[in-house]
Amino acid sequence: MPSDIRPSAPALADSRPGGSALRSPGPADSEAGTELDDLYEAFSKEQLAPLWTQAAELMPEQPAPSARPHVWRWRTLFDLAERAGQLVPVDRGGERRAIALANPGLGGLPYATPTLWAAIQYLAPGETAPEHRHTQNAFRFVVEGQGVWTVVDGDPVSMQRGDLLRHFHGHQNVADSPMAWLDGLDIPFVQQTDSGFFAYGSDTLTDTSTPDRSRAERLWAHPGLQPVALLGERQSSPIAAYRWQHTDRALAEQLEIEGEGHPATMGAGHAAVRFSNPTTGGDVMPTIRAEFHRLRAGAVSEPRREVGSSVWQVFAGSGSVSLGGTEHCLERGDLFVVPSWAEYELTAGDDLDLFRFSDAPIFEALGQYRTQVGRR
Ligand SMILES: [Fe+2]
Repeated sequence: MPSDIRPSAPALADSRPGGSALRSPGPADSEAGTELDDLYEAFSKEQLAPLWTQAAELMPEQPAPSARPHVWRWRTLFDLAERAGQLVPVDRGGERRAIALANPGLGGLPYATPTLWAAIQYLAPGETAPEHRHTQNAFRFVVEGQGVWTVVDGDPVSMQRGDLLRHFHGHQNVADSPMAWLDGLDIPFVQQTDSGFFAYGSDTLTDTSTPDRSRAERLWAHPGLQPVALLGERQSSPIAAYRWQHTDRALAEQLEIEGEGHPATMGAGHAAVRFSNPTTGGDVMPTIRAEFHRLRAGAVSEPRREVGSSVWQVFAGSGSVSLGGTEHCLERGDLFVVPSWAEYELTAGDDLDLFRFSDAPIFEALGQYRTQVGRR
């Protein structure tokens, strides 16, 4: 919001109900103009802003986001993260070697969208990131590499390609190669609503063991089964890691069932799964929706628009996305942002797998969510 809320004189004359735009200006008008200028100056001095000069901007006919559609190339991100790995240590204070996507429409803020943070995080062999906790919702999605264990509530969880991992507090790379992954959080939403809390934890990991399966998975990651001793709704999913083998199989079977002539997919050749919280049946986190999409080679998704924003990452394959009317080619690891109400359409070159997260649960909870499928 500009600090000086006074509009220019012509805009003022045009915007006033019954204003002077349709008649010739006379001496009385210039006198009224001066009085109006004084009025606007008084508004400004008292930290007031008239609605009538800003109504269109404040309440547009449909969402008019400042965030812009944009594509970031994984190869570029990874190379820069590698350089950061050589120059920037991971230690207390900075906490993480994470490099955020800064949407070109958001004035340099480290926000992928007005609500979502997306960053590439890089951990070199032998490195440990200190423990901390925060009220911002967080997950990570692994595009390549393995050998990092993250500790969630004292429970070590392994990270492998294709896994979605919910909330994390500290991590270590025990492999002999670096690892990079996508961090997704609701930092912009929490920061803009002044609702976040953060606390440092141990400088060293409280548990450096490297089990194949975390306690959270052994308790909760059995299809349709919940531990009776621990029943009850939880705001975020208790499943610490959604493993690629399950996601991959669910998507493959949707396409198989479609081929057998039964309902299964979002559209022809377009399978999708949503990661869910088994205690509520709802989204994996209260502010973030996470999904995985698979398009068979040559398939084209239906054009879609929705309220709220999303970040997509290509997991495998190649293709293209039409984003706000512009076509972008996509390769493995590439990330793109879809701002609120921007139309997007995916086309698979070869088989195309994409991970996606969005802020839809916020807008659904507030009754503001809306979606449109098909061409306008
Ligand atoms: Fe964190």
